[in-house]
Amino acid sequence: MNDLLAAASLARSRAWAPYSGFAVGAALRAASGRVVAGCNVENVAYPLGQCAEATALGALVTAGEQRVVEVLVVAEGPPPCTPCGGCRQRLAEFAEPATPVHVAAPDGSVLLSTTLGELLPLAFRSGSHSVPGRAAAVEVVRARAPGFLPVIGLVLGSGLGSVVERVAPVADLDMRELPGFPLPAVEGHRGRLRLGELAGIPVACLQGRPHLYEGHPPAQLAQPLRLLRALGCSRVILASAVGSLRPDLGPGSLVLVADHLNFHGTNPLVGPNDERIGPRFPHLVDLYDPTLRAVLRRVAEARGTALAEGVLAGWLGPCFETPAEIRMLRLLGADLVGMSMVPEAIAARHCGLRVLGIGIVTNLAAGLAATPPGHAETLANAAAAAGRLAALLEAALPELARCS
Ligand code: HPA
Repeated sequence: MNDLLAAASLARSRAWAPYSGFAVGAALRAASGRVVAGCNVENVAYPLGQCAEATALGALVTAGEQRVVEVLVVAEGPPPCTPCGGCRQRLAEFAEPATPVHVAAPDGSVLLSTTLGELLPLAFRSGSHSVPGRAAAVEVVRARAPGFLPVIGLVLGSGLGSVVERVAPVADLDMRELPGFPLPAVEGHRGRLRLGELAGIPVACLQGRPHLYEGHPPAQLAQPLRLLRALGCSRVILASAVGSLRPDLGPGSLVLVADHLNFHGTNPLVGPNDERIGPRFPHLVDLYDPTLRAVLRRVAEARGTALAEGVLAGWLGPCFETPAEIRMLRLLGADLVGMSMVPEAIAARHCGLRVLGIGIVTNLAAGLAATPPGHAETLANAAAAAGRLAALLEAALPELARCS
């Protein structure tokens, strides 16, 4: 804290406070460790003067920083001179409720150590960057690609990694670099985040995804979607390998997901809800965005790419279904069955992402083909269809990014 104290004290010595006679210095530690400081500056319209915290925040942004991890204010006390209401709100835009705030006297004695959340428990949160819990991962990504703002997120599963090869990279991150991120553990899921451009559109592409059957707590599966949202994406394309319940949709078919049946037995939103991310009871009507689907259908038709549409049953796994379960799912209206996508789509809706879901049929579901389904077949058939999917997405992406 001594570095903050020194910086704030130096700034305070430069304060311009001829009207109030009350000099204040503030120092902020940015996520990178850099310390910036500022002082109060008054003018003849005294109430319109600028607080030390606001000056320091200006310095922080000018230095290219985006997150505040510690705050220290120096002023005459007691009582301790805590940030004013306006500055608490300004700080909340750049910090977390748990961010420490210290108030010190000019002799260096600390009069108060608290948190921003204690000072402003009901902070209004406007920026996507202030989604709690994602801050650390967002910070890591932003540090690797400063100023890069993706519009569309892509989540790609088994065997679909080659779609990523079409994305001209700006930065590649291993998912292990992202704090709090659930890591995919299955063969065929690489666990990489690529930031780059596809068809001239800035995208954030998650290559590999975690699954419920790996044992992740359901809420963890929401993290990747919330990261995409926090990075600036407004829409997400979820692509995953699926089994087909319809003999007319054989391996290699591309199928738009029109709706789903959740048989996972759980949901990524189970647990406490953070209203700053999304509502307690989100509805799932038109979860798979009708406008985005219409765009993809139109582009597919223009290109002569076959694109069916159907209902996806989300299945926990890791076993493939029994033939009796497949007959049940068919009776209930499912066309496809898969072990991912459904929790992701729910988490995406909750945090305000528009969703496009595409199933890549890798096999006819259990009992419908001469041989039982298997993971090797899933990977091989997904890889075979990935090129077609990539070409379709590349053609459609500009319109998918812009349509309202
Ligand atoms: N069932 C469940 N998930 C799948 C299948 C399947 O047949 N094929 C690819 N993912």
